[in-house]
Parts: sequence; C-alpha cells; structure tokens
Amino acid sequence: MRVSVIGTGYLGAVHAAGMAELGFDVIGIDVDAAKVEALSAGHAPFYEPGLEELLARHVGPGGRLRFTTDFAEARGAEVHFLCIGTPQASDSDAADLTFVEAAVRSLAEHLVDQETLVVGKSTVPVGTAARMQDLLTSIAGAGVELAWNPEFLREGFAVEDTLRPDRLVLGVTSDRAEALLRTVYAATIEAGTPVVVSDFATAELVKVSANAFLATKISFINAMSEVCDLAGADVGVLADAIGFDERIGRKFLNAGLGFGGGCLPKDIRAFRARATELGAGETFNFLDEVDRINVARRARVVTLAEELLGDLAGRRIAVLGASFKPKSDDVRDSPALDVASRLVAAGADVRIFDPVAGGTGKRAFPDLTFVSSIDEAAEDAEAVLHLTEWPEFREIDPAVLAKVVATANVIDARNCLDRDAWRAAGWTYRGLGVQ
Ligand code: UGA
Repeated sequence: MRVSVIGTGYLGAVHAAGMAELGFDVIGIDVDAAKVEALSAGHAPFYEPGLEELLARHVGPGGRLRFTTDFAEARGAEVHFLCIGTPQASDSDAADLTFVEAAVRSLAEHLVDQETLVVGKSTVPVGTAARMQDLLTSIAGAGVELAWNPEFLREGFAVEDTLRPDRLVLGVTSDRAEALLRTVYAATIEAGTPVVVSDFATAELVKVSANAFLATKISFINAMSEVCDLAGADVGVLADAIGFDERIGRKFLNAGLGFGGGCLPKDIRAFRARATELGAGETFNFLDEVDRINVARRARVVTLAEELLGDLAGRRIAVLGASFKPKSDDVRDSPALDVASRLVAAGADVRIFDPVAGGTGKRAFPDLTFVSSIDEAAEDAEAVLHLTEWPEFREIDPAVLAKVVATANVIDARNCLDRDAWRAAGWTYRGLGVQ
C-alpha cells in the first residue's frame, strides 16, 4: 500500500519512517525544502533516538521512503496522513490552525475526484476535523473521506511509540474508513494494541484531554512539593507512596522544574481557549492554575539561587541541560532555558551545557552562552543548576566536579541526583520539595 505523510516535523518524520518500517511505500511531503533535503539524504533534522537508523534502512535507491516538497506526489496514495504542527497563535492562547488548513488545501487540489482517505494526526481543537472534512469535500469532492487518528508519541521515545503505541484511537464517520485504518495498523493491532473507535469530536478530545491530564498530574505534584518545602517533608517519598495506589500511579509524578516542550504547555492553553469558546471556560479555570503552578517553578529555582548566592549580578552559574527533556534537542518552551534567561536577566554570568541541545539552544537563544562540556560550564562557578535530567548528569562524580567549581552549591531542579553522595562530597545541595 502507498501512503503519503504531509508534514515532516517531529510527528511526521517519525510517522513516515515508522510506516516504511511497517512495509508501506511512503512519500513524505513538506513545504520546508531544507527539511526535505536532509531527510532525503537520510539525516534526521532533529535529534530522536532510532530515527536515523530507520531512515538509513528505508531512504535511498530501492528504499520505500521518499521525501519531496511537491504535493502532486501524494496522488495515488491510498491513505494520506496529516502530521502538521498546531503551534500556539501569536496573539492568543488558541491553536494556530493556518498550517493545517493550508496543507489540507494543497493536498485536496491533488485529490480531485479520487476515492481516498485523509487521516488527521495533528493535535487540534475539537471541531476541527468536521471543518476539514467540509474543506476537503468542497475542493476534492465526496470521494475523499477524513478520519481522525491522534498521535500520542513522546519525544525521545517517538520511534518506539509509533511502532508500538499503547492505544489506537480511530475517529471515523464510516465503516469503510475504520476498515481501511484497521488494515493500515494490522500489525500493531495483531500485536495486541487496544483500538478505540469513536466519532471525530471524541477522537480530537482524547488527545487534548490526555495532555491536559498529564500536565495536571505534574502541576499537582509540584504544588505538593511547595508544601513539602514549607513543612519539611519530602515530595519524592510522598510521590512513591501515593503512586503505589494503582488509581493514582507513580508515572508523571516527578516533582521539579515542571513541563515544557512543544506540546503540553500549548495544548492546555489551546484546550482552555476552545472550552471557553464552547461555553465551558469557567470549568477549565483550573488549567490556568496548572499553567501558573508550572511556570512558577522556574521563578522558584531563581529564588533558590538567590538564597544561596545573594545578588546574582556578576555571579558565575553553570546550567546543566537546555532541552525541555532528556533524549531530545527540542528547546521549545524549555524550562531550563527559561531559567537560564531569567538568571542572565538578573545579571548572572551563565554557561550552559547540554549533551545534544547546544545547537538548537544557540539558534533559539543567540544571547545565551553554550559550552561544550560539563567541566567548561562548571569552571569557577558559584552554583551548578541541574535543569534537564540527562543520564550523563546523574553520572557526574561530585567529588571531581567540586574541584572545578569556585563554590560547591548545587540546585537539583529535577530532584534526581544522588543527594547523599553530593553532600558527602562537600556540596550544599538544594532540590525542590526534598530535604
Ligand atoms: C507529550 C505527551 O507525553 C505525549 O503523550 C504526547 O503525544 C505529546 O506530548 C504530544 O502532544 O505530541 P512530550 O512533549 O514529548 O510528550 O513530553 P513528555 O514526556 O510528556 O514530557 C513533558 C514535560 O513534562 C517535560 O518537560 C518533562 O520534563 C516534564 N515532566 C514529565 C515532569 O516535569 N515530571 C514528570 O513526572 C514527567
């Protein structure tokens, strides 16, 4: 079967490679010529473990995976996946759907009078799929059907999540669309992945509510961490203890600097904006609080630095981590770089090291200073701030690093360094909600 994948960002590039791995003939289409060129040469335009291996296997002479900027090449594919970004609008909390609409229009022009299925995977405000179906029909005719099949992949595990998702949600309006999607995902379904079939609106809401719930879980534990600090309790032990209750579960209860990235922050804002449009805004006021608690963690880390160092002007600070989470070079809404920017604004001399996100960090924040090793960041520093939990940072020998810094202060904003070992090596250790 031939499939097209429209949009080759984090979602689309991995989906295209995953589809090729599952045996499909895949054409990936993007308006960004640089991205297409990189992917066509077998290079992932961003860091994602396992993606380059898949590209190496399927791109090139005789391979099943090609990339192009020409929408006409979508013609003839039986299924077209829409993997277009829906960033936050520049003037509001709502999602910007301009790119999705433009892609649907460009695709539809090449599908006139065909019988084919377009499958939306982007995270969109509820009601978008119904509008996109109308748009497709108005341009291409009644033979082009839409389905909505949200994607739940996590950056850093995107290949794994694409090939072995924990559920498939099929938002469809006909048996034909459901049957075709079941054929596309036959291998995944055979491997035991649960399938949920629903209408468009439910499928759209499954995705945004999953992200809203995850964000709420993180902000809940971060709110608890604030009380733990005030009461002298330990939020890590607390999370372990409540996590044993299967109704609660331990995952996504790691207190610390909070969430960032291209999904959770903008998705809760867009969901709140859409709920307000629909008349349920007040009910979702709590998502504003989830957002506020999350962003407040960043200010809290700066306050901790001030508690340790006093006035930050002229003080040298090492920042470990730039990406919004480990195993990614994505710095969109990165809590680490937000903290670094706040420290610089307070006059500190900040050096940042990240195992992979130095390049993307520098492009997004040209005024911040990125260095190429932990030691370079820590040299003569008066405080070391651990802001993204890369495994490399947990492996630091605190006794060795203590010799590099000017003063052995560490703020572990991800609460995952071995604090006994750091203290034993002479460091003043501070975490968030841990004693
Ligand atoms: C998130 C969802 O987890 C995916 O299921 C979803 O498909 C994706 O958004 C999306 O909408 O496309 P992702 O943004 O890759 O995936 O990142 P997460 O693993 O969810 O982490 C988000 C943030 O929460 C990170 O900054 C992480 O450091 C933080 N986090 C996570 C915590 O602060 N505490 C935790 O316990 C877990």
